[in-house]
Amino acid sequence: MAKTQVQFICSKCNSIYSKWTGQCENCGDWNSLHEEIAEKSLPKGLSGGKGGHLINFVGLVGKSKPKPRLQSGIEELDRVCGGGLVSGAAILVGGDPGIGKSTLLLQTCSHIAKNYTCLYITGEEAIDQIRIRAARLGLEKSAVKLATATNVIDIARTLDTEKGADLVVIDSIQTMYNEHIDSSPGTVTQVRACSQELIRIAKRRGFILFLVGHVTKEGAIAGPRILEHMVDTVLYFEGERGHHFRVLRAVKNRYGPTDEIGVFEMVSVGLREIPNPSAMFLAERRGNVSGSCVFAGLEGTRPMLVEIQALVTPSSLGTARRTVVGWDNSRLSMIIAVLEARCKIIIGNYDIYLNVAGGLRISEPAADAAVATAIMSSIKDIPVPANTVVFGEIGLSGEIRSVTQIDQRIKEASKMGFTEAWLPKNVSHKDYEKKAPSNVKLKKIGHIETLVKQFL
Ligand code: TYD
Ligand code: MG
Repeated sequence: MAKTQVQFICSKCNSIYSKWTGQCENCGDWNSLHEEIAEKSLPKGLSGGKGGHLINFVGLVGKSKPKPRLQSGIEELDRVCGGGLVSGAAILVGGDPGIGKSTLLLQTCSHIAKNYTCLYITGEEAIDQIRIRAARLGLEKSAVKLATATNVIDIARTLDTEKGADLVVIDSIQTMYNEHIDSSPGTVTQVRACSQELIRIAKRRGFILFLVGHVTKEGAIAGPRILEHMVDTVLYFEGERGHHFRVLRAVKNRYGPTDEIGVFEMVSVGLREIPNPSAMFLAERRGNVSGSCVFAGLEGTRPMLVEIQALVTPSSLGTARRTVVGWDNSRLSMIIAVLEARCKIIIGNYDIYLNVAGGLRISEPAADAAVATAIMSSIKDIPVPANTVVFGEIGLSGEIRSVTQIDQRIKEASKMGFTEAWLPKNVSHKDYEKKAPSNVKLKKIGHIETLVKQFL
């Protein structure tokens, strides 16, 4: 019998080593090397154009029509997936424990089970636990088929039939194992082998496969990065602890745009869709308070208004404190540096707290101008004029740079009753002015100094 060869693979960068070391030499990550069995090398004589069969090529337009996308009945999920679920697609759903992944997928299944066959396979919970959850969600009458299983070979055997399922949920991929592989569930080798097997069957039989993935402390989906390459769509289910609403975000999608988000609220009867997030994010806003600024943001294709709050106070500590919730810490440092260097606003020895109200996480640079406005408003204790939204990226020389989809942002502001927008002056596509609603006054700002002057 051939001797099996063991190798060690880094779960972060996929570098391969013959010996275990504590630190990956390539990416420098500690304790990221996992043992796995090396794949068999190709028999000699198969390379160099000999052996194998010729493959056929076809054109981009085929005779067979692709199947229409399946509508899950949960609009927020459908939009995040690019307008419905594509048959044969493998969708990885990652998120912190307790965020609501199982709840979301059970709700999705019961919607789809009205017309299609849905299988929910769990390795995490007992059947009774899922039944209790279904009862709580009021879904106990739905036709979802439940099973507890962790052996991927049994699952593969069950799913690999001609008229099988239309949708399969595997909760979670870290609990699955392949008995032919000699490592425990959740390891890189197992996660990879099990996903490969399941995805292969999903493609062949044309069912939609949802894989639930755990995330590590650092927030990445546990297991090899390769898992994210193997699936068609990667969705993250996020939310701040202590907040009741949740954001479903596509970070990779072979069948639609990424950065699209779906917003849900976790209530006592499960996840509720939020079709108008701006209204919810602004619901608890108190007018006429300094340090608060409404940012007209864009999440995917959807404009969204959120309140950015800043509190600037003299620091009693040697090193001033900078606490940021919902935004990028280094981006805040940059804005402070620009305010200090270009506008002579000295806040180095002030504590600065920045919060995106409601617990949303913003990654758009367009929020820069709103953050600077909130900070200035707090320093001078002057409220931002009521009914004003702000957006624009700030460059290192203090210029306010253009952002995309200006007309959409203004439209959303108008819809929510705002009457003024502070926006970048130098915009390449001027046609937004024609499209923007006329009841919103546009104040064009070219430099951060002009922004600061509003509070002097
Ligand atoms: P769950 O879907 O089990 O999370 P995950 O699969 O991501 O680990 O969600 C569990 C949490 O959701 C739990 O803390 C309770 C809360 N929850 C509600 O608030 N309302 C509900 O109707 C349900 C089912 C759960
Ligand atoms: Mg779960």
